[in-house]
Amino acid sequence: MKEINDKAREMMKGYCRVCKVCDGRACAGEVPGMGGLGTASSFKSNVEALEGIRVNMRLLHDATEPDTSTSLLGYDMSMPVMAAPIGGISFNMGGAITEDAYTDAIVGGCKAAGVVGCVGDGVPPYIHEAGYASIKKNDGLGIPFIKPWEGAELDEKLELARAAGCTTFGMDVDAAGLITLRKMGRPVSPKAPAELAKIIEKVHSWGARFVLKGIMTPDEAALAVEVGADAIVVSNHGGRVLDHTPGTAEVLQEVSEAVKGQLVVFVDGGIRTGVDVLKMLALGADAVMVGRPVSVAAVGGLQEGVEKYMETLRGQLVGAMVLTGCKDIASVDINVLF
Ligand SMILES: Cc1cc2nc3c(=O)[nH]c(=O)nc-3n(C[C@H](O)[C@H](O)[C@H](O)COP(=O)(O)O)c2cc1C
Repeated sequence: MKEINDKAREMMKGYCRVCKVCDGRACAGEVPGMGGLGTASSFKSNVEALEGIRVNMRLLHDATEPDTSTSLLGYDMSMPVMAAPIGGISFNMGGAITEDAYTDAIVGGCKAAGVVGCVGDGVPPYIHEAGYASIKKNDGLGIPFIKPWEGAELDEKLELARAAGCTTFGMDVDAAGLITLRKMGRPVSPKAPAELAKIIEKVHSWGARFVLKGIMTPDEAALAVEVGADAIVVSNHGGRVLDHTPGTAEVLQEVSEAVKGQLVVFVDGGIRTGVDVLKMLALGADAVMVGRPVSVAAVGGLQEGVEKYMETLRGQLVGAMVLTGCKDIASVDINVLF
């Protein structure tokens, strides 16, 4: 990973410093870029909230070879981790590799590691085109996240993603706050429940599933259940859309309790190590998404970089599960936390 990170630091010069800990400090305000919006308080809160949580060490047990596998939304995965959707290599990461090479690395690397890669959306169109092409190449194993566009663009992209063989579709509703899209004059907006219900009904009529990304409160999680979503992602978009939100680890427990058993709960934001994954599972997530560090691995090492990153994270998760006495993912609960 050191080699991959060193290479990425060179290739992402001026866009990402590939810091020892990716915590939003050095890149505050760099949107476009890899940073958080404004003071980057939301990005920093994600990392700080996780840092503030402690785990109970337990060794008097027989969980010596924990099983990290899980099944979610019809995907059998080697661990409850996905690569978060991230788009815009040229204006966010410096463009040292193409968007196609990037999404191939993410989707292919995740598939090889037994997890699922997500792809993003935006302007220009090569962002979603690259993502859908990579998903198609990988037999539909990837989740496209489409922005909450106004007008026909949303339907058009759903159809394009469907043609690529996707079985799960996502929408990052929180992208309604994205400064990059506003600058490009492309309208995105919050989505009223009635409109969302219609979109989800359409996706369900294809026998597919729908994920709503950008949920930060229990009331909106309950609304996600009402409109028929199959999953939510507790997320503040890595702190890129609104300054001064809480960290996702601060809101996760309350949000997941509000919808327990009714839909799948993902979370992202500031997850950097296997212990962080364990903490999020203990707070009620079914799985997590990792953003920036996977991007860095993809730029620095392409598919191999992503595979290596996932392998490293799984090794750390196994270690954390042994030291906290968790024999499998289902047995991770709040008692893991101090
Ligand atoms: C450069 C960049 C581009 C992103 N593009 C998208 C996108 O196209 N769609 C989306 O749903 N989220 C996007 N995100 C948000 C990520 O999916 C994710 O929520 C966030 O990065 C998680 O936080 P982390 O990077 O601290 O792990 C983007 C984030 C970054 C840093």
